Amino acid sequence: MQETLDPENWEQFSQLAQQMLSDMLTHLRTLPEQPAWREMPPGVRQGLQEDPLPWKGHSEAEVYQQFFQQVLPYPNGNLHPRFYGWVQGNGTPLAMMADMLAAGLNPHMAGFNQAPALVEKRVLDWLRQLMGFPPESGALLVGGGSMANLIGLTVARDRWLKGEALLGNSRRPVVYGSTQTHAWVTKALRLLGLGADTFRALACDDQYRLDLSDLRQRLKRDRAAGMEPLAIVATVGTVNTGAIDRLDELADLCALEKIWLHLDGAFGALARLAPALAIQVKGLERADSLAFDLHKWMYLPFECACALVRDGNAQRRSFELEGSYIEPETRGVIAGGLPFAQLGLELTRNFKALKVWMCMKSYGVEKIGRIIQQNVDQAAYLVEQIKSRPELELAAPAPLNVVCFSYRGVNNRELLTRLHESGRAVPSGTTLGGQFVLRVCLVNHRTRQSDLDLLLDSVLEIGGWMKASASQQ
Ligand SMILES: Cc1ncc(COP(=O)(O)O)c(C=O)c1O
Repeated sequence: MQETLDPENWEQFSQLAQQMLSDMLTHLRTLPEQPAWREMPPGVRQGLQEDPLPWKGHSEAEVYQQFFQQVLPYPNGNLHPRFYGWVQGNGTPLAMMADMLAAGLNPHMAGFNQAPALVEKRVLDWLRQLMGFPPESGALLVGGGSMANLIGLTVARDRWLKGEALLGNSRRPVVYGSTQTHAWVTKALRLLGLGADTFRALACDDQYRLDLSDLRQRLKRDRAAGMEPLAIVATVGTVNTGAIDRLDELADLCALEKIWLHLDGAFGALARLAPALAIQVKGLERADSLAFDLHKWMYLPFECACALVRDGNAQRRSFELEGSYIEPETRGVIAGGLPFAQLGLELTRNFKALKVWMCMKSYGVEKIGRIIQQNVDQAAYLVEQIKSRPELELAAPAPLNVVCFSYRGVNNRELLTRLHESGRAVPSGTTLGGQFVLRVCLVNHRTRQSDLDLLLDSVLEIGGWMKASASQQ
């Protein structure tokens, strides 16, 4: 007997699939009634950890039951309207369906100039337009900000090398950023063979932006010492506070000094979609390369980010791929070749473009921009509330959608853990100026003002208890 992995009974499978869809939509619809996070019962945790290697199969329905009981109720919570931690996007029901359709169709997205590739090409063109990049710039959808940033920095490295080999090269590269640059940069520098110590984490001004006078001095000093600047990595929306580096001035400096300007716009670049915020990220369109995540502030499910490189040919030279088994033809399935595989690391890629295409078309960019603005307005509201409460202290300016604050006189790390355990709200934490603070990042289309009120009430309540119990000891 010959076997296949298609269902034995399509009718039964179709019923199960409809059950899965209905359960997931119920999960999404009832999010506000659920806790923002719940601890996994030890038995469930142990069950999953010890799940034995399944040599023999179980029915699809049984496997789904296990998912329904042991996995679905215990995620990390990022879909929830009161999840404000790190920079975790939420996803939308339409994007979920698009991902299902993409996985069902399962096209190989190395290229192949068929309908799925045309969808990705349209999406990339829309994203170029939104970010003000020229039509000939290189563009690729990738898994996340770390990968999109790696692509930009790879092309920068190759331009710096001017065709020379890296190994045995006596030239000494330097990459400049700030103390607020995200940690992807040192990982990327290690992967690129440049070493993490190529990175100079420069000081910031009082708004957590790269200090340009420090940068100018360092450039002069490093050049005098025989070092060669490879790139300046600036950030549009830092992970800690949402600070935006001075983009126009950096673009001027890079043009003058002939240094590659790479922008990490993981979430902040999307501020360009909100008309009143676009001015804050002006200059972004002048970068040599730009990375941004659609799975953060475009609210799409993981994974989806975009790398844009002004010089598309340079990007192609960095990532070109040849083989007799993938040569393009003028007719047939491989007509048009594998253009996406020539712009990034991956050969086999999934159809993540479909969710971008369907969501952009269905919501319209204007609505996405309005929700981005809504998040920024929510951050401003939170700042006002914090300033009006003597127990609380704002820890940093909040120019965009990230608010850092603390409860005075208590251990804020402990307060944060208690808040998570309460299931009421999930901010994350960070350290600013040597102080641990609570960090609220608003990239959630589900968050309402009442959710922020609940966050504040919970912080005040837990902080109040902690203070009271400390004073009794
Ligand atoms: C500013 C910034 N850059 C890069 C990244 C990394 O992006 P990803 O997690 O999509 O790889 C993040 C993640 O939060 C970020 O905030």
